Amino acid sequence: MTSKTILVTGGAGFIGSHVLRLLVNRYADYSFINLDALTYAGNLANVADLEKRDNYSFVKADVTDLDAIRKIFAVYPIDTVIHLAAESHVDRSIEDPLVFVRTNVVGTATMLQAAREAWKGNFGGKLFYHVSTDEVYGSLGETGYFTEETDYDPRSPYSASKAGSDHLVRAWHHTYGLPVVISNCSNNYGPYQFPEKLIPLFINNIRHEKPLPVYGKGLNVRDWLYVEDHARAIDAILHGGRVGETYNIGGGNEWRNIDLARVICRTMDEKLGRERGSSEELISYVPDRAGHDMRYAIDATKVREELGWAPSLQFEEGIAKTVDWYLENEEWLRSVTSGAYQDYYQTMYQNRS
Ligand code: NAD
Ligand code: TYD
Repeated sequence: MTSKTILVTGGAGFIGSHVLRLLVNRYADYSFINLDALTYAGNLANVADLEKRDNYSFVKADVTDLDAIRKIFAVYPIDTVIHLAAESHVDRSIEDPLVFVRTNVVGTATMLQAAREAWKGNFGGKLFYHVSTDEVYGSLGETGYFTEETDYDPRSPYSASKAGSDHLVRAWHHTYGLPVVISNCSNNYGPYQFPEKLIPLFINNIRHEKPLPVYGKGLNVRDWLYVEDHARAIDAILHGGRVGETYNIGGGNEWRNIDLARVICRTMDEKLGRERGSSEELISYVPDRAGHDMRYAIDATKVREELGWAPSLQFEEGIAKTVDWYLENEEWLRSVTSGAYQDYYQTMYQNRS
């Protein structure tokens, strides 16, 4: 296998840190540069175990800063970009949409342009891998699945900004010949996820016996994938994906939010030695999210048949591992929930209870 120099953007975030952990450990002869602006969602503690590795380095930069990105391409012989840096939380996109347009749309265009300039039409052995979401496809009813052919129909500022970024990636491919690949994944869960997203938020709230805010009737459905399985899929696509193609990645693991909340409650009761049913009493129905997408579900046939990828973990096992991790890493949780998080929580949930 030929050696690579891979620039990973957003590597201090949730998924990026798992992608780096997998690849840095698996490919000792590759070099990795983790580029991250360290927003509220980026945390170097997420990649602390990689810090001393010879094939890993970190650069603090903003993906919208073209001059800074150009300099990074000038310093390192980058042949591959795995672009994960993004604003990623739907509720924040409803409160503050413009930062999503800036980071996700302008940031992706900036990364594409810097790669194109650096590679100067010399595209042999180069790849721009864009990591995206199933939310670009919109919302499903009770039946059906998102395939790679499903029309885009994003409905939140987050998903619209990700859809915009996907279109830009395809535009740089079609117009300039930039070698690209895109994957659109379903909801991830696992260690190091910021506790604004459903699963870590509920684990943290149960730990502190705080209400569990279930939006609307709790009937919305998401397809949950353990984050390490997403990282494995990214590795498979990085090495075997066809240039110009899109791959959908999903867990085949649909849960209504209320049923998922009950699984988390039961798991937490067991792990904390609390009376069975006590955490469920914390469930509190709150006003719905504006424009709340009803259901996401992925058809992952293409990545399975072309690249032999499949999720490795059963959901109950993944949830148990995730709960264990959060309980064993209370210091991590405490550090990310101090300060600004308290203001965020107040703003987001004070009008909901
Ligand atoms: P995250 O919010 O945990 O991490 C995002 C990272 O990007 C952080 O480290 C942050 O500091 C960095 N970042 C933000 N703005 C930046 C900027 N302007 N310049 C440089 N770095 C910046 O997100 P995540 O959940 O790890 O998601 C990573 C990617 O995967 C995103 O592109 C997201 O759209 C996509 N995705 C996420 C999920 C999911 O369930 N979380 C599912 C499918 C796809
Ligand atoms: P989230 O983790 O924010 O992911 P996404 O909106 O990208 O799918 O939310 C998952 C589901 O859980 C979604 O249907 C919204 C719902 N939800 C709640 O009911 N309460 C909450 O406090 C949060 C954060 C989400």
